[in-house]
Amino acid sequence: MITYDDIIAASLTGPTPYEWEPGGCLKMVNHYHPFSIKPIEFQTIYDYIIAHGLRRGFEIGTGVGISALAASLAMRETGGRMITFDSYIEESHNHYLAYTELSDVYDKSADAYRGLEYISRVFGLETVLSQQIGRSPEGVAPTVRAQYGVDKLDYVMIDAEHTDAGLTRDLEAVRPFLAENHAIFIHDAHCFTPELVAEARWFPECMLPHGWNLAVIERFNSSPSSHQLSDVNHPHAA
Ligand SMILES: C[S@@+](CC[C@H](N)C(=O)[O-])C[C@H]1O[C@@H](n2cnc3c(N)ncnc32)[C@H](O)[C@@H]1O
Repeated sequence: MITYDDIIAASLTGPTPYEWEPGGCLKMVNHYHPFSIKPIEFQTIYDYIIAHGLRRGFEIGTGVGISALAASLAMRETGGRMITFDSYIEESHNHYLAYTELSDVYDKSADAYRGLEYISRVFGLETVLSQQIGRSPEGVAPTVRAQYGVDKLDYVMIDAEHTDAGLTRDLEAVRPFLAENHAIFIHDAHCFTPELVAEARWFPECMLPHGWNLAVIERFNSSPSSHQLSDVNHPHAA
């Protein structure tokens, strides 16, 4: 498994160098925000996708690109594809809540876009990972349809606007596209009103001093063989 030091080292020769932020995430050297997921969350996402054989991923909130990288590395093993989606508003406003009343959508010149494009090439993920630009909720449906046609999503990651209204919008936006068997990961789940994430299962290994950070809403209804559920020896099994 690649480490965050490997990612930093790879980024140094690209357009957007990354560095550790003091809380243990990665960030771009030239921006205070956004922050990435943490290494234990990276590993948890990677392990979960492989254990469940997930193959059609969609993420709202590319940010630094690290959760998309974890999912893409796993999807390379499962034979899947990963789409990550962002409006790049956070790096422009440089604060994770500064933009809640705004709806700017930036473009491929965003530092985070260019950084992930480079890192994805370094790790050989060009055929697995697609970076899309747009704003949730309005950009989600056209993006998912354009990328997947009628195929449904079995992995969703939401790490965008950290407000109840934002999460509600993101959940509604992806709902029509969910496969019967699917997992919706929610990052920074402690930021939301508990009722909103009542169905979610939290990952104890990802617990932080200020809360429980990574959670998943899972639906695995059909027989294990139909979605390669291999939880028997899996440390994250419910
Ligand atoms: C905390 S970062 C995601 C970090 C990412 N998971 C990682 O590991 O690097 C949140 C991102 O969500 C994006 N975002 C926030 N609201 C959005 C919206 N409504 N639509 C699209 N992207 C949004 C921000 O621009 C920001 O880049």
